[in-house]
Amino acid sequence: MEMETFDLERQQSLWEHRVDINLSESGVEPLTLAGLAALGFDLDGLHSVPLEYIQSNGTPELRSQLAGHYAGATIENLLVTTGSAEANYVAVQVLVGPADEVVAIVPNYLQVGLAARGLGAMVRDIPLLPGADESTWSLDWDAFEDAVGERTKLIYLSHPNNPTGHVFTPPELDRIAAAAERVGAWVLSDEVYRGAVHDLAPGEETPGMWGRGERVVAVSSLSKAYGLPGARLGWMAGPPEFVERCWARRDFTTIAPAALSDPIARFATEPLNQERLFERARRMMRTNRATFRDWTGRQDGAIAYREPRAGAYGFVPLLENGRPADCAAFAERLRLNRSVLLVAGRWAGMPGYLRFGLGVEPEAFAEGLGRVELELRNGG
Ligand SMILES: Cc1ncc(COP(=O)(O)O)c(C=O)c1O
Repeated sequence: MEMETFDLERQQSLWEHRVDINLSESGVEPLTLAGLAALGFDLDGLHSVPLEYIQSNGTPELRSQLAGHYAGATIENLLVTTGSAEANYVAVQVLVGPADEVVAIVPNYLQVGLAARGLGAMVRDIPLLPGADESTWSLDWDAFEDAVGERTKLIYLSHPNNPTGHVFTPPELDRIAAAAERVGAWVLSDEVYRGAVHDLAPGEETPGMWGRGERVVAVSSLSKAYGLPGARLGWMAGPPEFVERCWARRDFTTIAPAALSDPIARFATEPLNQERLFERARRMMRTNRATFRDWTGRQDGAIAYREPRAGAYGFVPLLENGRPADCAAFAERLRLNRSVLLVAGRWAGMPGYLRFGLGVEPEAFAEGLGRVELELRNGG
């Protein structure tokens, strides 16, 4: 079957390096190797790393360290991949076939739904709805429970959610796991933003899906909260037999993780370094969130502020004459007229919204907002 275009990735890869200000960024300002060295990474050690194929499911050292992030997990539960994108993709390949159904909580990154549809599955999108209070979202639980049925093979959630920043509570995660259990479905929980809950106290953990059911797969990577997307290193934690099957699939995709990324990942995911990297991300997002809140307040009602609790985005409705605007058209105009790239909500499964990346340097962020404001006032 033909794969649909992955609009979000296509737009970003076409334009993100060609605009003056990229507010479509989905993580925090990436670190450099020098930045990692300043945190204690042994840069000289890289000189002696053989540029070979490393163990194709990830080195035992890295898998063992990652297993420590998931209560009760061992290295048998871990597969290291080329970004979480590969983990998501091989998981869908292993689980989903033409007669199956996937229940996906939207908005989200859309990769899993598109890949499942490409394999001939039917995808049921269940919406997160904006709450009356500007910082809350809630799942349409009735629609969710109705959608999960005998044909459901997989439930997908991005948690914390890209792009709304919504964080499910432990009882809600249990409810999702229980719905899957009821019909023998799998849960794929994409947790790349788990370290990026803005107001988390140092050392405090965001609840994850791991351990809430037998058929639970948790996916993560260095790309978002760690600020290391170019390392292209991700992983999944799942039941050993399932992880084996995914490993067999990745023999067909990228074979093995990049040799240079293994030492970087071992450094970054070591608990103390992890905490320092997460705190760096949270600090940046809290700063830009405050700027964003003030700025939306000055837009004469064109943008209704919604407070993200997690992730690297402000995800807000754009209104034209009090009605949802055509955000993809606005994003296009903004890019052409002001050289700023934003993400239209449609590319994340929720039209009428714009996604502003909070992970950029505060000065560039403020400059980008200034240009958006010019387009809002003078464009059209
Ligand atoms: C929710 C989510 N999952 C997965 C990915 C893929 O990222 P990577 O392969 O760099 O881990 C992204 C990238 O934007 C994302 O936002």
